[in-house]
Amino acid sequence: MARKTIEIEVDEHGAFNGSELKAQGVLSYDQPLLATATARSAITYIDGEAGILRYRGYPIEQVAEQMHFLQVAALLHDGELQKDDALRDAVFGAEVDRDRIAAVVQSFPEGSHPMAILIAGFAALGASHPEAKDVKNGEMRKQFFPIVLAETLELGAQAIARHAGVKSGQADGDTYARRFVRACGGAVDTSRGDEALDVFGKALDVLFVLHADHELNAGTNAMRAIGSAETDMYSSLCGAAAALYGPLHGGANEAVLRMLTEIGSLDNVADYIERVKKHEVLLYGFGHRVYKNYDPRATVIKGVVDEVLAVAGENPLLAIAQELERIALEDEYFVSRKLYPNVDFYSGIAYRAIGFEPAAFTVLFAVARTVGWLCHYDELMSGDFKITRPAQVYIGSGARDLP
Ligand code: SDX
Repeated sequence: MARKTIEIEVDEHGAFNGSELKAQGVLSYDQPLLATATARSAITYIDGEAGILRYRGYPIEQVAEQMHFLQVAALLHDGELQKDDALRDAVFGAEVDRDRIAAVVQSFPEGSHPMAILIAGFAALGASHPEAKDVKNGEMRKQFFPIVLAETLELGAQAIARHAGVKSGQADGDTYARRFVRACGGAVDTSRGDEALDVFGKALDVLFVLHADHELNAGTNAMRAIGSAETDMYSSLCGAAAALYGPLHGGANEAVLRMLTEIGSLDNVADYIERVKKHEVLLYGFGHRVYKNYDPRATVIKGVVDEVLAVAGENPLLAIAQELERIALEDEYFVSRKLYPNVDFYSGIAYRAIGFEPAAFTVLFAVARTVGWLCHYDELMSGDFKITRPAQVYIGSGARDLP
């Protein structure tokens, strides 16, 4: 095809409609969707250059400081601040078929990665809620929002307990995070007394708030792409959770802990940085597709880490993380590529100090992000959409006959 020049009109958002390209007989090849919007959304706003994150217009720093997780869930879902605890009451009062969840969770051998169990659990819950297939029914989606959050708490906690080879506990307590910790049973060390549990419960609530939504990350894009086929919300959650499981995405928090443990001491930090610069290894927890500045969530999480460690006791891995950050923020390799700590760099240290195993970290991320996934699914279903079916640039063989 001969080279050609085209003219296209860009709207006030700096975007043009992709179908204009097709009308002019051209395609845009953009595998990472770097410059391709797949949604018009009002839920979360990010300015990556400025390091800004807002939930329904409210800055994440204020939200994390002043709101609880289920208040944030209600804000993200309904678009406005709620004046009551209706969502919390609905989540805490939801009927959860614990035995049905246990049947799926127990079908996995002890030690199975809890993200694999979570993904299977979403599919099983979908099978027990055929009414969720009425995807265009806004009332059904509204009714299921608290139910899915209650089921996800139970499923996530049972999955973590199964991985740890212990019995899960009863979801008990006055906040979603506190109930989650108790539902994890013996998988979380709660021997440090109620005062510690108060600190850990508050810290986990802030971490859930920070992970609740993040516009069109890989997992949320998967949720919307699967939902565009009019797939039910539970089956769509399987795909979103599967995308989050990857070490480049939500699996990075677990990878960070493993990286810090592998580095092992301050003496080995410089050598690890050299290996990163030779492209032999990644500096997990660093870099971001959108943030070319400090991830504002990482800033808040550093404060959470200090609060948790003040109760849980020092963690030598923190000093290694801080040294990695110090070097990376000065070193040309990272500065020139605008690589800063992201949400996953410090969160694992907080989760570990609260008492979770590294394999549980991505489940904690997924439990919180289920709010965002459901909100994006609801936003999609509430409007007009077509099934997501990308074009391709074909580079294969021309027509040929079998011999
Ligand atoms: C999350 O999208 C979201 O919003 C995600 C998330 C959310 O809330 O949903 O914020 C959660 O997933 C955070 C990211 C967690 N992942 C990690 O920490 C894994 C390590 N980070 C990298 O894999 C990477 O930074 C990504 C995947 C996060 C972003 O990748 P991009 O945007 O595709 O960037 P890139 O790979 O094109 O990198 C540009 C350059 C490359 O070097 P050159 O080829 O130019 O020489 O920077 C280098 C990369 O090699 N680079 C890194 C690096 N990240 C980028 N080098 C070493 N270590 C890293 N972490």
